[in-house]
Amino acid sequence: MPMASKGLEGIVAAETKISFIDGEKGVLEYIGIPIGELASHSTFEETVFLLWNGRLPNKAELAAFTAEIRKRYELPAGMEQRLLALPRDAKPMHMIRTMVSALSMHDHTPDANDIPSLRSKALNILARVPTLLAYFHRYRSGMPLVRPDVNLSVAENFLYMLNGERAKPTMAKALDVCLVLHADHGFNNSTFTARVLMSTQSDMYSAITAAIGSLKGPLHGGANEGVMVMLNEIPSLEATEKYVLDKLAKKDKIMGFGHRIYKSYDPRATHLQVLAKDLAAETGNSSLFEKSKKIEDVMATAVAAKGIYPNVDFYSATTYHCIGLPLDLFTPVFVIARVGGWAAHVIEQMSDNRLFRPDVDYKGPHGVKYTPMSAR
Ligand code: ACO
Repeated sequence: MPMASKGLEGIVAAETKISFIDGEKGVLEYIGIPIGELASHSTFEETVFLLWNGRLPNKAELAAFTAEIRKRYELPAGMEQRLLALPRDAKPMHMIRTMVSALSMHDHTPDANDIPSLRSKALNILARVPTLLAYFHRYRSGMPLVRPDVNLSVAENFLYMLNGERAKPTMAKALDVCLVLHADHGFNNSTFTARVLMSTQSDMYSAITAAIGSLKGPLHGGANEGVMVMLNEIPSLEATEKYVLDKLAKKDKIMGFGHRIYKSYDPRATHLQVLAKDLAAETGNSSLFEKSKKIEDVMATAVAAKGIYPNVDFYSATTYHCIGLPLDLFTPVFVIARVGGWAAHVIEQMSDNRLFRPDVDYKGPHGVKYTPMSAR
């Protein structure tokens, strides 16, 4: 029996053609295209097409794909009433996990797992997660719902439904870049969760629901919220160094730092740092950016030798704050993006499936006699 690898570190669990990471060199590619190229030139819709098809679309293909997404923005009949019956104080990650699961009941063939059906279900989820989030936010805030606008991109439409007015182009563009940067990332925990679930030949809704549950954790996608909580806790730029060093001395984790795969700068954080700086200047939040930069500098001196650098969640916190997103929608926005990657992996899994069923190294006792209740 081979030794167990705690956290499956270093274990190759499958082959993929979707995204490539070189953690030593700080490289991330989707279908071979460096993430920086996509962040600079692509859009979220085009990136999702790339992930699902293994190539960039031509103009007509992108227009058709975009139209397919937009015509699904509105919720199926009955979903809105279900949403409006939820407790207003429900946490958005719990809401979105539950409502993605509920979407399956509005699909007449929820278990169809042929590739065209999987793509159709993935489109349903991709298009409706932003609507569910925006509707829920307005409902809990006592504001009237704002219907989706099919003339707008996923990023523009989400901000429009959330705020009830068209977003400034710089804000919509920033969100779109964030969605591109967050769309896929190898065998991260939530993607692995989705693929493990799909390997039982369950269904797309179940796979994405499970992945959302995984992403919620503070060691995964939930860290972007943790970063903002930390930034709010630090009273001033001057107090930053002591705050970080005190936490490290107590062996506490600094949210938004460290990664199982990257032992150099996360290439997504490189882009987000620039984005955060620009947006902070534009929105009068430069002090927030300076505090973030100070945390990074302190960490560079204190722990960079261990290969701990900012990850995708660190500067996305400042970026989302500047875009005007409420704190508890930070991780749900990650869901909007990652549905693209999860669905690509579910489709890849089903294209050449074998049930995931690893072995385990049993360390417990053997041959123990059952003790009757009267003798315990
Ligand atoms: N702050 C301080 N120290 C850290 C951090 C951190 N953020 N991350 C790792 N370390 C230290 C650990 O204390 C440990 O030190 P030791 O060897 O002296 O005991 C060493 O680095 C290894 O840490 P592990 O937790 O074993 O590394 P692992 O690969 O299991 O975990 C993880 C990776 C979970 C991302 C970790 O770095 C972490 O908890 N980071 C904070 C949460 C976070 O930002 N998560 C988002 C990751 S990106 C994403 O999922 C979208």
